[in-house]
Amino acid sequence: MGVTHHLALWSPDLPRRLREETTRSPGQPIRAPTIGDNCVRCPVGTATYPVRVLPQGYEIRPLGEGDAASLASAYERNREHLAPWDPRREESFFTQRGQREDIEAKLVAAHHGLVVPWLVMHGTDVVGRVNLNNIVRGVFQNASVGYWVDHAHTGRGLATAAVDFAVERAEALGLHRLEAGTLAHNVASQRVLARSGFEQYGEAKDYLFIAGSWQDHRLFQRILHDRPAGNPVP
Ligand SMILES: CC(C)(COP(=O)(O)OP(=O)(O)OC[C@H]1O[C@@H](n2cnc3c(N)ncnc32)[C@H](O)[C@@H]1OP(=O)(O)O)[C@@H](O)C(=O)NCCC(=O)NCCS
Repeated sequence: MGVTHHLALWSPDLPRRLREETTRSPGQPIRAPTIGDNCVRCPVGTATYPVRVLPQGYEIRPLGEGDAASLASAYERNREHLAPWDPRREESFFTQRGQREDIEAKLVAAHHGLVVPWLVMHGTDVVGRVNLNNIVRGVFQNASVGYWVDHAHTGRGLATAAVDFAVERAEALGLHRLEAGTLAHNVASQRVLARSGFEQYGEAKDYLFIAGSWQDHRLFQRILHDRPAGNPVP
């Protein structure tokens, strides 16, 4: 199914800020802080907590229709790096065609307000992803955060800055809570979440089917704020 990025994503039913998030031009970077390498007060939306900035030379921008080739190349470069933490992938996943289909599915889901997908870019290379997945409104106002960073770009704070960014955007979208699950032995990912203000609230046995088997996970959450005040369900 084809999706025209700008028009097909528009819907009067989408919350205004989510619409802004998903209709930004593919090449247009998100208005993220870019000064220094420390914590700043984020100027975007209503956030009032510190957000780490991306290291020099990187940007986060929305996933766009034209990203299939860069994504296929990124997944090919990171096959071994991601294999222990991801579902088993079909061979087609590593092709432009497979990525085009995946992008279309994600943009349709974004149109329905179910996900917000971003890419971490270094020049024209995709070097990571961060997503708000499984967005549920009503009394839950919740999303799951997913992320990864290219093996050649780890260890410089990219994932932490990307998760901070997703937290800030989630608050701007009016969500109340974010959750994330890591494999029990994914210490690096647990560090990222801890540094981004998430707390572990549980452990779940056989939680997700990852790398070919049902695997135990640690569950994390971050409560964002108590808005909208009162009942979120009119
Ligand atoms: C986990 C991952 C996202 C981290 O990306 P990153 O950009 O290197 O993360 P950051 O630089 O922001 O922070 C990494 C933190 O983990 C720590 N870390 C890295 N490897 C570690 C290890 N093997 N054991 C313990 N801590 C480790 C780093 O020291 C750092 O913490 P610190 O700054 O407190 O020292 C990246 O390695 C990745 O994509 N892994 C594969 C996919 C994945 O696990 N995704 C998350 C699924 S829940």
